[in-house]
Amino acid sequence: MAQWHRRSGHRSKRAWALRWVSTHARMVSDHPSDREASMRTIVMTGGTSGFGRLALSQLQRPDRRIVVGARGAGSDGVTMLSLDLSSLANVRQFVSRVIEEIAEAPIDALILNAGLHSTDPTARSADGHELSFATNHLGHYLLLRLLMPRFADDARVVITTSGTHDPAERSGFPPPRHADARLLAHPERDSGVDRSSPVTAGRAFYAASKLANLLTARRLARLAVEEGRGWTVLAFCPGQVPGTGLVRNYPAPMRLGWWLAGRLAGAPFAARLMGVNTARAAAAALTGLAQGDVRPPRGRLYAALRRGKITWPDLSELARRDDVADAMWRDSEVLVGLSDAPVPG
Ligand SMILES: NC(=O)c1ccc[n+]([C@@H]2O[C@H](COP(=O)([O-])OP(=O)(O)OC[C@H]3O[C@@H](n4cnc5c(N)ncnc54)[C@H](OP(=O)(O)O)[C@@H]3O)[C@@H](O)[C@H]2O)c1
Repeated sequence: MAQWHRRSGHRSKRAWALRWVSTHARMVSDHPSDREASMRTIVMTGGTSGFGRLALSQLQRPDRRIVVGARGAGSDGVTMLSLDLSSLANVRQFVSRVIEEIAEAPIDALILNAGLHSTDPTARSADGHELSFATNHLGHYLLLRLLMPRFADDARVVITTSGTHDPAERSGFPPPRHADARLLAHPERDSGVDRSSPVTAGRAFYAASKLANLLTARRLARLAVEEGRGWTVLAFCPGQVPGTGLVRNYPAPMRLGWWLAGRLAGAPFAARLMGVNTARAAAAALTGLAQGDVRPPRGRLYAALRRGKITWPDLSELARRDDVADAMWRDSEVLVGLSDAPVPG
């Protein structure tokens, strides 16, 4: 017995060392880890601009098929398929094309990184839903649900969220007052929205859509456990990454400030001093999470990039509630037409 303990202790030290080496292999060598090498089919959104575009180039390998859903043209070496997340019919068409494209191959990673920050509170999607919520949450939710049956047993799903969803972050965005999908899709029915300016209302809608992303990740992670699937589900906040296209709808002076901050952040140590992240750092974090180079501590799924380092913060009060995550999942199912229940509202 004592001998078994000694041997198993020896074995577990060896296993730990092997795990350490495989986790850190990418830092010391260009050879892909086993996990990376086995990751052959990746589906991604938000790979045409900002840090997603950089992450896409880091993910490319000759033996890997990456299918990117995008509105515009894309890069060499990946399969670009037309996708407009603000149209549910378009999302369904995209999924059919993905399935045609990958044939029998299981999806090893799904990266839902696209995001829009509308500053027009009256803007609506093709289906009549508030535009940020429709694009960031409903379109991605439908995409995820339709592709779920094709996930590999050990698939990784990374959904890009934002710290703006959490009042504790004091991001300057109005934190979500609730996570009622029916009101978020139809804010004209919500008398509590701060409409003091279009940018303020747009920020509130954006933050709420990012809370919906996090709740979706939580519900999916629980579903994976309930159904005994080995999926890893992560929600990723890149921190503030100036210089990307996210503020394209802001007034010109704010866009200029954002662009300048992005340029400045690239100087040595500047990003840390400014409390922001470079697009390069955000891309590396997204790539690491999607490929499995970075693994979550037990019981954590919210990865937040802060001062260039991945942290695993506690969730906001709303984000940690199972009942809220269940309701978001159920109501979204109806809003995207996956359930026959009467349309909520
Ligand atoms: N930058 C930040 O400080 C920050 C902070 C927290 C979270 N985030 C999140 O990080 C992600 C990437 O943002 P980013 O800052 O890199 O901004 P970005 O440069 O504007 O990138 C956004 C991406 O989303 C795609 N997209 C937007 N609307 C779409 C639609 N209707 N259908 C399909 N694709 C659409 C864009 O495609 P097109 O090329 O067609 O426009 C682009 O590839 C977003 O989810 C954003 O919410 C960013």
